[in-house]
Amino acid sequence: MTAQDRTVFLSDYQPFTHLVEQVALTFRLSPGATRVTARLSLAPNPARAGRQDLRLDGEGLTLLSLRLNGAPLALTPDETGLTIPAGLLPDAPFTVETEVEIAPEANTALEGLYMSRGMYCTQCEAEGFRKITFYPDRPDVMARFRVRIESDLPVLLSNGNPAGQGPGWAEWDDPWPKPAYLFALVAGDLVAHSAPFTTASGMPVALNIWVRPGDQDRCAYAMDSLIRSMRWDEQVYGREYDLSVFNIVAVDDFNMGAMENKGLNIFNSKFVLASPETATDDDFGRIEAIIAHEYFHNWTGNRITCRDWFQLCLKEGLTVFRDQQFTGDMRSHAVKRIEDVLLLRARQFREDGGPLAHPVRPDSFVEINNFYTATVYEKGAEVIGMLRRLVGDADYARALDLYFTRHDGDAATIEDWLKVFEDVTGRDLAQFKRWYTEAGTPVVKVTEDWDGATYSLTLSQTNPPTPGQPEKAPKLIPVALGLLNPNGDEILPTTVLELAEPTQTFRFKTATRPVPSILRGFSAPVVLERQVTPEERAFLLAHDTDPFNKWEAGRALAKDVLARMVTEGASPGPDWLDALARVAFDETLDPAFRALALRLPAEDDMAATLHAAGIAPDPARIWAERRRMAEAVARHLAPRLPALIDSLAEPGPFTPDARAAGRRALRLAALSLLSRVDGGTAAAAAHAGADNMTEEIGSLACLLDIGQGAAELARFEGRWSHDRNVMDKWFALQIAYAAPDLAARVTTALTAHPAFDWKNPNRFRAVIGALSANHGGFHHASGAGYRLVADWLLRLDPLNPQTAARMSTAFETWPRYDTARRALVQGELARMAGTAGLSRDLAEMVARMRS
Ligand code: ARG
Ligand code: ZN
Repeated sequence: MTAQDRTVFLSDYQPFTHLVEQVALTFRLSPGATRVTARLSLAPNPARAGRQDLRLDGEGLTLLSLRLNGAPLALTPDETGLTIPAGLLPDAPFTVETEVEIAPEANTALEGLYMSRGMYCTQCEAEGFRKITFYPDRPDVMARFRVRIESDLPVLLSNGNPAGQGPGWAEWDDPWPKPAYLFALVAGDLVAHSAPFTTASGMPVALNIWVRPGDQDRCAYAMDSLIRSMRWDEQVYGREYDLSVFNIVAVDDFNMGAMENKGLNIFNSKFVLASPETATDDDFGRIEAIIAHEYFHNWTGNRITCRDWFQLCLKEGLTVFRDQQFTGDMRSHAVKRIEDVLLLRARQFREDGGPLAHPVRPDSFVEINNFYTATVYEKGAEVIGMLRRLVGDADYARALDLYFTRHDGDAATIEDWLKVFEDVTGRDLAQFKRWYTEAGTPVVKVTEDWDGATYSLTLSQTNPPTPGQPEKAPKLIPVALGLLNPNGDEILPTTVLELAEPTQTFRFKTATRPVPSILRGFSAPVVLERQVTPEERAFLLAHDTDPFNKWEAGRALAKDVLARMVTEGASPGPDWLDALARVAFDETLDPAFRALALRLPAEDDMAATLHAAGIAPDPARIWAERRRMAEAVARHLAPRLPALIDSLAEPGPFTPDARAAGRRALRLAALSLLSRVDGGTAAAAAHAGADNMTEEIGSLACLLDIGQGAAELARFEGRWSHDRNVMDKWFALQIAYAAPDLAARVTTALTAHPAFDWKNPNRFRAVIGALSANHGGFHHASGAGYRLVADWLLRLDPLNPQTAARMSTAFETWPRYDTARRALVQGELARMAGTAGLSRDLAEMVARMRS
């Protein structure tokens, strides 16, 4: 069967033939031969007329017994499941009992029930439950689960509330009907870091974070984040927790970040475990955000789930939006917004502009695991941000309340979601819905005119073609606008313009020619095109009252400078350098903001920008010119850097809060610049004196960036070889800072390192992912980067198709480059496509990326 034969279409949706009232599962755990018995209480679904076959999904299961209403049935499953013919089924409720055998220790795909260093764990989203037992594995089939686990391991966990335990067994009962993808089971030799919580209405909840013995002192930050998330969801969304326990388990082998299983979240250990010595400020920030994200899913995902996997953005877009709001409230809205937009452009715009572009709500897929993308998650969150901007905060809150009351317990759709907004506001959102159904990043062109009394702003949108969608209708785009006087006063505070037509003109009475600040807060995920002079950008960098656009002005200046360095051999001029210096040393600004302003445009971003301007980017040249740019900045700021670095030293013990983290970020940005002029003296001293991982690894990066740090790298390895999460950083850092000519060689050497455990997804990503992200190295003219990544994807694919397929997106940017590089990439894609036994996951990705 080819990949295309298995395409699933949204338009084919039908409710399931039967309802599942109750599921009773028993697991007799054994690494090579786990027995799973399942007793399903079923009834015909009144939504489906006539007597229907019962089709149960099941993959890789050895069926030991099958009973219908207690009587044995002799049926043989096929490759993907088991069908009980309608003729055998009664009209009334009935039970189906199965017993199957599975081998968790042989499960290298990390989907279904698998083992990670001696512990049992599960990952069922999206379609992993069918690897555990025969079941209608689709999100609109919701049932109450009761689970019995039999094992000698000391800790046995599943969803819901504890329902009894004894020597060698435990039972769990989940009162909330749920789809199978939210099922979870964990068994292991684990210890808990625990805390009590009382909900707003007074219900006590036992919170536990389960980790390997020895890791329990690295859970405090995750626990603190969980408690703040629970409180925040009560206060901001009025949502309370609904079970007597909330368990989180940290697992070392995990394909993704984390999973929101009901009452039993399972996390990649790198997003739970943290201490100042082992985790960076970025790690702390990610832990806080992911703990919040998974917790928030309890309402947006679990209480209200998705009707089918095409609706994935219903839970993911909304939950990302909610975790972004939370982080903004905990830290800084301005800094959070800038970081989110950097990520959106780096991942989602890149995806939307290439062969893998797809709508926020796709309408077909071969393998759903390939659609856990930046588009579904991050653009999905942007769409909700736009909706909120269009209807206003008060109506957003009313619409959410209606969503929760109307759809609690439902498996819902994007249509349901938009309908609550239509009902609350009376607006017709048909045009807005195109954001969900059409792929591609709109381009908004701006022209303006001032006649002495009236300022006219003309906005035109174009919606570029994407695979399968050649033509597009105009979208409804909220454009937040402010107008400034030449003296810097704001004459129009932020106002949301609604661009609905291909071209629209907006007029404002003003006696002076204003400077517009357009798309404030990045009010829509679009590319803004406008002819702006460097003087006007410098003015906005100095005076814009919108922090996002202030940063954006500086970024645009830097990109203009770098583009001219790459294309014309220009040099950074004093105007830009002075403007940058003013921000860097402006003590009225948040240090975290200043650190972001000092971050130079990324090489991949520059390549995308040059491509958009009709120029085939030369990766080696971009790398070299970006370094020349950093050196020019370093020389310009050098005299004031030592004092800045000293002034940012944190007295007292490490704290992971945003204020302290922002100061460290600026300090390290300054240290990185200083390293380029002091030969690494200050960075070496900072490294030697570091008492936290942020500074230990940040200063090491400064040294590697200037071709030093060999001794420090060796010492780091000696000090941290026992810690997998820290060693991932050691692997990744060396590849990230390798020069383009060396990146493939450094990677090859590291793949021969005894600690390169390539079957562990975190380690694979730390090494092969780091090479894919080293722009100059991956796109090296020799093709060595492409070849090495393809070799490793082909090696991983038979064991772990999900991670192999996800990492194949490294190749998605090929249309940007010259014909020689395109041919090299096409060669690697053809080689992968031609490999016998390629997984459905990787086959789909490669097919979509081939020209
Ligand atoms: N729902 C999880 C989260 O975003 C991600 C699960 C991803 N699973 C997958 N097979 N791709 O919180
Ligand atoms: Zn999620």
